[in-house]
Amino acid sequence: MKLGLLTRNKEAWCSKQLIKSIMKREVQPVCFQFPDLTARVSCKPEISMNNCQNLLDELDAILVRPIGRGSLDEIIFRLDLLHRMERLGLPIVNSPSAIEKAVDKYHALAFLEEGGIPIPKTIVTENAMTALKAFYELGSDVVVKPIFGSRGIGITRVTDAEVASRIFRTLSFFHNIIYLQEFIPHGTRDIRILVVGERAIAAMYRVALAWKTNISQGANPVPFTPEGELKKLAVRASKIIGCEVAGVDVMEGKNGFVINEINSQPGFKGLQLSTGIDVSGAIIDYVLKKVACR
Ligand SMILES: Nc1ncnc2c1ncn2[C@@H]1O[C@H](COP(=O)(O)OP(=O)(O)OP(=O)(O)O)[C@@H](O)[C@H]1O
Ligand SMILES: [Mg+2]
Repeated sequence: MKLGLLTRNKEAWCSKQLIKSIMKREVQPVCFQFPDLTARVSCKPEISMNNCQNLLDELDAILVRPIGRGSLDEIIFRLDLLHRMERLGLPIVNSPSAIEKAVDKYHALAFLEEGGIPIPKTIVTENAMTALKAFYELGSDVVVKPIFGSRGIGITRVTDAEVASRIFRTLSFFHNIIYLQEFIPHGTRDIRILVVGERAIAAMYRVALAWKTNISQGANPVPFTPEGELKKLAVRASKIIGCEVAGVDVMEGKNGFVINEINSQPGFKGLQLSTGIDVSGAIIDYVLKKVACR
């Protein structure tokens, strides 16, 4: 059996852990990146690696790690490739449709709201004047985010109307979408719950010195055992987005828990090291079970 690991960097900590877990189960890992792939239409093989092996004959499933930043062309083509492989019968975890929903902050929150999940009030527009009205509507304390998130980079808290107006005009001028969210006073920590299949397998607080709680921004992982209802909320939210493996970020607001986002390609170094839970093993077991059940 061969398991494909679609990863930009097979030397990265999470990729190495996944490779170890795959080999421990006597399965062969095959690591590759999107630029290694060639797609053919109306000539065979439909998707090949290094221009020769037919990926669909080679592999039993693919586990997708971060698809990375790229141009619009690259991102669309990468997702098209995943969709095509899935249609041709190769199990992909997470599925391309789940990745599409999760990476787009507006799209994801809209699905979560429709599914009855508590989320922060969010207003999205292309118009700077409308954004300024939204700033007041959200209590003049907002978080401005790029619609495609990236480890807390480019996210700003704004409480001053003049600064807000300047930011909105600049974003609009450069054809960026203006994505505003009410600030949730979460006390400089949030909760990350790792969901695999139908189970919340591990959780931690991400404790920061300021309001951004990304580990990559310096927050510290602190093990945490969520109560049953919170676990159920995380599993339900992951299911709505269609993520079989998900990093669910939960903020504790004044009115209870709100889901900030569902990460479809979550890093798990902090979680695995702080809790001692074998996250990579659980992910690989899930994918292998999926292959076995086909
Ligand atoms: N509405 C909010 N109120 C308070 N804090 C927030 C809010 N939105 C985000 N944050 C903080 O900022 C951090 C980064 O925001 P978010 O997770 O939305 O984007 P990102 O991490 O850049 O995206 P991605 O996880 O997709 O890389 C969150 O982990 C949280 O600590
Ligand atoms: Mg985040």
